[in-house]
Amino acid sequence: MPRETPKYHVGQTNNIVNAFAKRTAEDSCAYLLSSLTPDMTILDVGCGPGSITIDLARHVPRGHVVGIDIEAAASTLDKGRTQAQMEGVMNVEFRTGNGYTLPFPDDTFDATHSHQVLHQIDDPVHFMREMHRVTKPGGFIASRVWDTGSWILHPQDEGITSFRTMTQRINSERGLVPFAGRNLHIWARKAGFEAGRVKISTSTMTFRTPEERIYVGELFRAISQESDFATMALKKGYVTGEGLERMAEGWQRWIDDDDGPFAWINFELLYQK
Ligand SMILES: C[S@@+](CC[C@H](N)C(=O)[O-])C[C@H]1O[C@@H](n2cnc3c(N)ncnc32)[C@H](O)[C@@H]1O
Repeated sequence: MPRETPKYHVGQTNNIVNAFAKRTAEDSCAYLLSSLTPDMTILDVGCGPGSITIDLARHVPRGHVVGIDIEAAASTLDKGRTQAQMEGVMNVEFRTGNGYTLPFPDDTFDATHSHQVLHQIDDPVHFMREMHRVTKPGGFIASRVWDTGSWILHPQDEGITSFRTMTQRINSERGLVPFAGRNLHIWARKAGFEAGRVKISTSTMTFRTPEERIYVGELFRAISQESDFATMALKKGYVTGEGLERMAEGWQRWIDDDDGPFAWINFELLYQK
C-alpha cells in the first residue's frame, strides 16, 4: 500500500539546510562514484538542498540527474535550483515528491541514490523497495546512512547528553529504528534485494578542527533549537525552553573547546540490480 503520511522531523530551517548544502558527492557517496559512467541517468531521493545531486550531475556530463525531496519549502529545493544555475550545471532538475511513492515508472534510472534519509523515516524497507523499482536492471542502488550507536564525542557535556536523550525519545515514539546504519543490509533483504549481491562498506566522519567543529556543532545546535524534535519535545512536556537553551549552550561549549572531537560511522549500501 502506498504510504501517504511520511514522517520527517529534523526540520528545514536555513541553518539546518545550509549545513546539508556543504556536502559533496566526493565526501558523501565516494563508494558509488566508480560505478558511474558519463551518460547515466540518476535519481537522488531525499536530495535536500541538492549539493550532492549537483555534484552527481558533474559525474554524468552526458546524462541527467533528478533530485527529489518531500519538502517543497523554498529553503530546500529552490536552493538546489539556484545553486545549479550559478554553477552552470544544466543536466540536473529538482522536483517535489515522496520517496514512498516515487513518480516514475519501473526501470527508469541507471542509478538511484539516497544520503542520510533512511534513518529519519518510519518505513525504510518500503523506501528501498521504491528505489529498487525505479532502477533499471543492471543499474545501481546506493544508500548511505549514519549509525547513531557510533557517536563518539568528547568531552561529555550535560547539555549534549540531554539533547541525545530528547532526540532518541522522539525517534523511538515515531517508530524509527535506532542505529540505522547497521540495519541497511537487513532492510535491503526485506525489500527484495538479493542478499548475496548487497555490498556494505563503512566510512567515518570526523570533526576535529575549529572549522569542522563549527560546521557540525552549529548544525546540532540548530537542531536543538529549531527542529521539529524541539517543537515536539516542548509540546509533550519532555523539555522546557530553558532545557533547550542548555542544549544549545552545550553545543556552543563543545564548539569552543579545542579538545573536542566528534566522529561517527556511516554504513553504505551498493547494489547492482
Ligand atoms: C538529512 S536530509 C539529507 C539531505 C541530502 N540527502 C544530504 O545528504 O544533504 C534528509 C532529507 O530527506 C528528505 N525526506 C524525508 N523523508 C522523505 C520522503 N519520504 N521522500 C522524499 N524525501 C524525504 C527530507 O525532506 C530531507 O531533505
